[in-house]
Amino acid sequence: MMQKLEDLQKEFSSALKEVSDSSALANLKADFLGKKGKLNGILKSLKDAAPDVKKSLGMKSNELKEFILSEINRKSTQLEMEEINARLKKNWQDISLRASIQDKGLQAAGYHPVSIIQREIEDIFTSMGFEILDGPHIEDDYHNFEALNIPDTHPARDMQDTFWFQDMKHLLRTHTSCIQVRGMESRRPPFKFVGPGKVFRCEATDASHEAAFHQLEGMMVGKNISVANLIYFMKTLLSEIFRKEVNVRLRPGFFPFVEPGFELDIECLICGGKGCSVCKQSGWVELLPCGMVHPNVLKYGNVDTEEYNGFAFGLGLDRLVMMRYGIDDIRHLHSGNLAFVSRFKSF
Ligand code: PHE
Repeated sequence: MMQKLEDLQKEFSSALKEVSDSSALANLKADFLGKKGKLNGILKSLKDAAPDVKKSLGMKSNELKEFILSEINRKSTQLEMEEINARLKKNWQDISLRASIQDKGLQAAGYHPVSIIQREIEDIFTSMGFEILDGPHIEDDYHNFEALNIPDTHPARDMQDTFWFQDMKHLLRTHTSCIQVRGMESRRPPFKFVGPGKVFRCEATDASHEAAFHQLEGMMVGKNISVANLIYFMKTLLSEIFRKEVNVRLRPGFFPFVEPGFELDIECLICGGKGCSVCKQSGWVELLPCGMVHPNVLKYGNVDTEEYNGFAFGLGLDRLVMMRYGIDDIRHLHSGNLAFVSRFKSF
């Protein structure tokens, strides 16, 4: 009997070697361990054996069962790996090689220049400890205007004419400043975050204006924040983006949600300050409206204005792209013109 068990083990081991796929493995398992399998066949004939023989044979057959099970598991993992590797080999594609992509008849892909800039700026701000937040394109009156200190009848609403929904309660957000409101709703000071995204205005388009464009909002709230902090972060950002010192100027600017408010302009990099269609012949491009957050806005955000203050800015991403790549018309960015976008392939 003992011999039979040993023979069975040998038989199993050599049968296992022949197995080359998972269905054959399942058959093998049934063949040896199933109800009508070989091991059970031997155990049945044990019925009439003497008790001590029964005991030692019982132990041996349990060992054999364990052995078979663990061998089957091992083989099953091995087969799975082989199957995965075979599939990978068949579908393998080196997407880092242009030639390989062209061989396969695929188009080389790349990011839109606005996405490229957005990601770079996100990296710069994350490295300075800022969070990245998102917000909805469809906003309500409260987040787009009211909580930003722009009440219902305020003339500043006219500066940002937008597309309203029929309920006259929802609109396409006119700026990313709504992300300030949403950011404050869910955190306690001190905090600092940026929020990039698409914004919309009902506006006639020209070389420097589009009805849909991109901004990146920034907000920092803490104790004793000053205009000097604001300028420091803006200068760091711009010199990283343009990889050189750029000339900037700060002018007073009015936005109901900041006090004092500024317009940070950079010297036009398209014409070097001489005057062109992008800078409207002035030599300067309005790039970065900013300022110290108005106390009313902080109050809407439940921030204790005795203890905390902060700055905010709204960076125009499309203009930044235009300055960096020397693009003279914002309408190229949404044109869907392949000749234009393919300049920005990432490889
Ligand atoms: N939200 C303003 C706009 O779109 C820009 C801005 C943001 C100004 C933050 C000041 C502070 O015009």
